[in-house]
Amino acid sequence: MMVDVQEQEADASRPPWLHLVSAFLAMEPSHSLLSLSRECGGGAITETVQNFISEQCISQSEGKGHTPYIKSFLKKLILEIESANAVVVDQLYEQFSFYMASLKDGDLAKGDSRIIRKISFLQPTDYIEVCHFPRKLIVPLNCSLNMLEGDTGCAIWPSSLFLSEFILSCPELFSMKSCFEQLGSGVGLVGICLTHVKPSKVTLSDGDLSTLANLKLNLELNHRSTRFGSSESVVEDPCKVECLHLPWESAVESDLRDLKPDIVLGADVIYDPQCISHLVRVITTFLTTKMSNHSHREETKGSIVSNGRVNGDIPNNKYKEFLLASRTQPIAYIASVIRNIDTYDYFLMVAQQANLAVLDITQNVKIFNFLPYMQSYQGSSVKLLGIYSSSDN
Ligand SMILES: C[S@@+](CC[C@H](N)C(=O)[O-])C[C@H]1O[C@@H](n2cnc3c(N)ncnc32)[C@H](O)[C@@H]1O
Repeated sequence: MMVDVQEQEADASRPPWLHLVSAFLAMEPSHSLLSLSRECGGGAITETVQNFISEQCISQSEGKGHTPYIKSFLKKLILEIESANAVVVDQLYEQFSFYMASLKDGDLAKGDSRIIRKISFLQPTDYIEVCHFPRKLIVPLNCSLNMLEGDTGCAIWPSSLFLSEFILSCPELFSMKSCFEQLGSGVGLVGICLTHVKPSKVTLSDGDLSTLANLKLNLELNHRSTRFGSSESVVEDPCKVECLHLPWESAVESDLRDLKPDIVLGADVIYDPQCISHLVRVITTFLTTKMSNHSHREETKGSIVSNGRVNGDIPNNKYKEFLLASRTQPIAYIASVIRNIDTYDYFLMVAQQANLAVLDITQNVKIFNFLPYMQSYQGSSVKLLGIYSSSDN
């Protein structure tokens, strides 16, 4: 059967070719890469697309990519082309043979459960440049392949992608603010994105020591210098990030108060009912501490970028209260996928008992799509909570 192929000109700096390369770097599943490959070829994986994959994806990884991942992708790619009775270019066969051989000779992912995923944030076409955001920001992250080994802090969670998109969508909310992604920073994606929007200080923490070691590695990979464990308050190098070991259960109130964050962030931290009361205690301590001297919220002109929609879930006056609070007192943004409604409701109840106002502001903010190629990520499954202390203090 004849296919009416409308192949697009191969150009790694423009979609859909840019999306294909970005998906490969982020180690998206093979089926996503195949669907983007078809898009490039106007419906078929043409020879031009095959040559592009070979040169711009496989060769560019210079043998340093994750062998099982590349091998599996090449196998599925060749199979799809062959089953369409189309010609497979020689280069792809050669590369496949190379990766087959290196899998046999090498230590074949023997316990090698660490990978480097490169997350590309691509500037959306409708994005109005507020700060000097590059057209493309690539964040390499050392992650774990196996989330089931208790390595939760070494995987990339959807809420951290969402929170990163939020930060890049509203950079003026964070610039010149002291930001504390205290709530289980994990691989550090949110913290690294924060360093690109000119905050006065970035502090990251996690309760798990191996996660913290991996976080430090990721900051180095992204050329962010780190300082460990210190509670000094002035960080002159804007790229310098402070890392703290901070299990919520044993966090000392006076130490938390000394940190004086203006904005507290957290991604996918509401999941363990046993930790919730400790988590809420930590958030409450931060949100009832006076803001640091160098932050004057009245300087924040734009505040949250509204998407112009009215969110029926939040009474208008409540959202206004949140906006007002964001100018005068510390606030928290927590992004969360609600996997268990009972756990989420329990969080809301404990937060209410601690006089925290928790608003679902997902529909109130305009969040740009910086990850258009990432088919494995569903931003719509994430809720953004805006939190402030409603007690008089
Ligand atoms: C689901 S992961 C999310 C990681 C990261 N925020 C992200 O979205 O990619 C939860 C994180 O919270 C940390 N965590 C869990 N319980 C904690 C506790 N009690 N104290 C401090 N950190 C904790 C874990 O080590 C892990 O890094």
